Amino acid sequence: MKGIVLAGGLGTRLLPLTKVTNKHLLPVYDRPMIYYPIQALVNAGVKEILLVTGGNNAGDFLRLLGNGKEFGLKHLDYTYQEGEGGIADALRLAEYFADGEPICVVLGDNIIEGNIVKAAQAFRDQKEGAKILLKQVEDPQRFGVPVLNGKQVVRIEEKPARPQSSYAVTGIYFYDARVFSIIKTLKPSGRGELEITDVNNAYIEAGQLTWDLLDGWWTDAGTIESLHRANQLVAKTGANKMTGVEG
Ligand code: DAU
Repeated sequence: MKGIVLAGGLGTRLLPLTKVTNKHLLPVYDRPMIYYPIQALVNAGVKEILLVTGGNNAGDFLRLLGNGKEFGLKHLDYTYQEGEGGIADALRLAEYFADGEPICVVLGDNIIEGNIVKAAQAFRDQKEGAKILLKQVEDPQRFGVPVLNGKQVVRIEEKPARPQSSYAVTGIYFYDARVFSIIKTLKPSGRGELEITDVNNAYIEAGQLTWDLLDGWWTDAGTIESLHRANQLVAKTGANKMTGVEG
């Protein structure tokens, strides 16, 4: 399985913090935000990783991460997203890198306490389709929200005013190679983006989406409030304990 970290977008919800740098380079406790999603993939045994970034500060990722030596990687791949066309638009750029293999996609502003080892193994065994990870939250209206019928996800609604469940779809997704042909069929949403929720709904319609609950705490870090919470959670847990990285 190959890993893709999506770190494009303009981070406008974090202005003025993102006026002169990329959101994913901002600190979360003692390391830059981008370290956490990369480490989550590495901890799940993923060795080939592509980082999708964009904006004016893309070069800073190369200076910061190099070939991924700090994560025990031999090599890191990079690509550049023009503009801010949405999560699925950024993922579209990974088609050549994926080269027909299954992928695990992690949003660059998602931070997890635990690991995704079990989910990654379950997806390897699943062989085709998609898998998402859900987490119970207090503010589901900020996220993609699953509509459940018993244990079945019947559809996902993006930032619904009236959430049909108290779960968020976290920014960790597993896909087979068909994801890239699904993306080619998407139309921009009301906010002008190619939505990852539309990708997931296409898999649901095909009867090919499974889900698990994510263990441990989870947060995004894309708003002032959630960035502050991410700092507090990491500080409390201990960054080294979470990432398994010493020093
Ligand atoms: O955090 C989980 C949530 O992430 C999901 O529950 C939602 O369904 C999903 O749409 C997404 O919601 P957000 O509105 O919070 O996503 P945001 O626009 O903040 O983008 C999240 C990450 O995706 C961002 O840190 C970098 C990457 N991204 C985003 C955009 C819009 C890109 O790489 N390129 C983009 O154009």
